[in-house]
Amino acid sequence: MILGILLLASGVTAVPLARSFSSTLSGILGGSRKLTFDAQGNFKVLSFSDMHFGEGENVVWGPQQDVNTSIAHTHILENENPNYVVFNGDLVTGENVYAFNATKYLDQVYAPTVARKIPFSSTHGNHDNTLAINHQEEIEYEQAHYSTLSYTRSDVGPKPWGSGNYWVPVFATKADLVPAVIMWFFDSRSFVSGNPAGPGPIPPDANFYWVDENTVPQYIKQQRELMALVWKKVPPALVFVHIPVQKADILAPLPSEGDHDDEPDPDTQGFLNNTYTGLDLPFWNALVEMDGGKGIVLAVTSGHDHGESWCARATASSGIPICFNGHSGYGGYVTEHSMVRNGRVFALNLRDLAEKVPVVRTWNSYENKTINDEVVLGPEYMAQCN
Ligand SMILES: *[C@@H]1O[C@H](CO)[C@@H](O)[C@H](O)[C@H]1NC(C)=O
Ligand SMILES: *[C@@H]1O[C@H](CO)[C@@H](O)[C@H](O)[C@H]1NC(C)=O
Ligand SMILES: *[C@@H]1O[C@H](CO)[C@@H](O)[C@H](O)[C@H]1NC(C)=O
Ligand SMILES: *[C@@H]1O[C@H](CO)[C@@H](O)[C@H](O)[C@H]1NC(C)=O
Repeated sequence: MILGILLLASGVTAVPLARSFSSTLSGILGGSRKLTFDAQGNFKVLSFSDMHFGEGENVVWGPQQDVNTSIAHTHILENENPNYVVFNGDLVTGENVYAFNATKYLDQVYAPTVARKIPFSSTHGNHDNTLAINHQEEIEYEQAHYSTLSYTRSDVGPKPWGSGNYWVPVFATKADLVPAVIMWFFDSRSFVSGNPAGPGPIPPDANFYWVDENTVPQYIKQQRELMALVWKKVPPALVFVHIPVQKADILAPLPSEGDHDDEPDPDTQGFLNNTYTGLDLPFWNALVEMDGGKGIVLAVTSGHDHGESWCARATASSGIPICFNGHSGYGGYVTEHSMVRNGRVFALNLRDLAEKVPVVRTWNSYENKTINDEVVLGPEYMAQCN
């Protein structure tokens, strides 16, 4: 591993330089910033999505809705006691807020997590990109005000490629140099119009309803090749992106646990003017290549469809499990089974990750302090669909 450090230090890389992003491993952190598993070999990730803070800020129920969301998050955090929190997009209902104080809602988004000093990071959703606010502004605010707990970065960007594409390593112990797992985060971009502050220019990424097909796949490939070179392996990967890939549509009808309220047509990446373009496939294919048929992509998890909280895998997804977050906010639309707000937990364990094919346990965790739909994602999961 000393070799790895030397390679990094001297900037030697095995792949050509790309202009839009760095050609060294971009997520390495030392000291107290280094995330590790606990003494029992566990690392629990809790993912909240679709918080929709700031919705109806000028009416009586608006602020109360946000209070309710914070209470829901607090109950779920108390019940799960996670090591890391992921805010998986639609942190703010950006079309309902004013540009001058829109980012102030982020303080409310993070508050229950910050009160417990839990490290966290974010992806951003279509409602975080409006005339009043955008992904880049949210990232800059988070970095400026939460630098001790936040891990959000922007390795690929800026617009129109999207802002929050990055990865965060978790090590078995402080002494380890090769991560036991990597959390990957991607920006599915897109834009929601409407703003009481009045009309403004429509941003160039307004119609880009998918992870950028030109730069991000190249970034994934470059980073995983560097990992293989420096670490002699590509660690198991947990992937977060707000809008689901279109492959989720194909898996939606499978008889899997969790809620299926938004089917049969989950709103997915790659659509333009209601026509599927296939432009999310370069991103998806980069994940499939990283997986390499070895099952190292543990899951790709999305929000966006509030009434979906299932996981599924099949040959149609190259065996990669696709999961949904459900609905953690009191803002945004509600479906029959998203009335009791929830987060999704991924319970990582070093023994599970060291299996021939790594596995991860996941479940939905509710504000009423119950859990359900616990499954183990791995080679045995939904094997009948492969
Ligand atoms: C907030 O939660 C309370 C208690 O569950 C509920 O009665 C109320 O309708 C909620 N209010 C809003 C605006 O969501
Ligand atoms: C932003 O300003 C509006 C209008 O003054 C106000 O209603 C709202 O509460 C403010 N939001 C935050 C998060 O400070
Ligand atoms: C989408 O449809 C609208 C209205 O039909 C049209 O004005 C617009 O140019 C279309 N956008 C693209 C990118 O094709
Ligand atoms: C808690 O919420 C879940 C999810 O909606 C529901 O299935 C369960 O019955 C609720 N349990 C209690 C004790 O309220």
